Amino acid sequence: MAMLPRIPRLLQAVLTVAVIYGGFRLVFDAILGQPIPASLMTMYMFFIVAGVFMVFTFTEESAREMVVPIRALVEDPSRKPIRNLVFVLVPLAAGGLTYMKMLPSFEAPLELRSIHPAPPTTVELYGKRFDLLKLENPFRKLEKADPEKFRELVAEGGAVYIANCQYCHGDKLDGKGPYAAALNPVPLNFQDIGTIAQLQESYLFWRIATGGPGLPKEGAPWLSSMPVWQEFLEEDEIWKVILFLYDYTGHRPRSWGHE
Ligand code: HEC
Repeated sequence: MAMLPRIPRLLQAVLTVAVIYGGFRLVFDAILGQPIPASLMTMYMFFIVAGVFMVFTFTEESAREMVVPIRALVEDPSRKPIRNLVFVLVPLAAGGLTYMKMLPSFEAPLELRSIHPAPPTTVELYGKRFDLLKLENPFRKLEKADPEKFRELVAEGGAVYIANCQYCHGDKLDGKGPYAAALNPVPLNFQDIGTIAQLQESYLFWRIATGGPGLPKEGAPWLSSMPVWQEFLEEDEIWKVILFLYDYTGHRPRSWGHE
């Protein structure tokens, strides 16, 4: 450290740790936009602090130099005011940190939740077995074959939506229904291109019929409030509400590409 002659060694070590920490934060939060989980950061910093102090106390001389300011603080009579201050502040800070750590927190657990987990290939619904790989909306073909009838079905789907779904998913289908603020995970916003626009109608059928309890494990570290609609709606009503979701938002369902 020949370039930093006047900075005391202890401060050099602390600054080195601070610069590394800042670098981590900069790279992960600002540049990659993906913060490191706090527990991982604690682990990294533990090894970094240990490593830095090992380097800085490598020789006996450098180790002695490191403790000079600490010894001076404890022993030098002229430092009495600072000493008293430090001896009050350090325990207070330790107490404060411990208190903050022990406070109960109501944040969601730090588990990754997959919003669109892979569906099973077949599901048992309404007492029948459905093959989700082949399942299609039985009303979809009417969009071309009988547009008038199709509009009717969309309107019926809209009525199902208003009676059942808007409380959570919102009357504009934007996930901002009157109950939404109280729910975690939040009801999904169907206007967003990240939800139904990515999905096939068979996927929606599965999700609507089986709700939160039907989610596979990777989709449900926390409890989804999405109800199990096969208990309240007819099969046809689910297909109609699906028509309505796509019609209102202007999204197209994803298909297997044979349309
Ligand atoms: C009690 C609140 C609530 C009601 C009522 C509700 N949902 Fe949901 N819904 C949710 C929540 C919360 C999620 C997000 C969590 C999840 O995926 O299970 C969700 C997710 C969904 C998804 C998954 C979308 C995706 O991108 O994976 C669909 C589809 C859906 N709801 C349709 C409906 C339909 C149709 C109705 C009415 C028949 C309805 N929901 C009523 C709370 C609700």
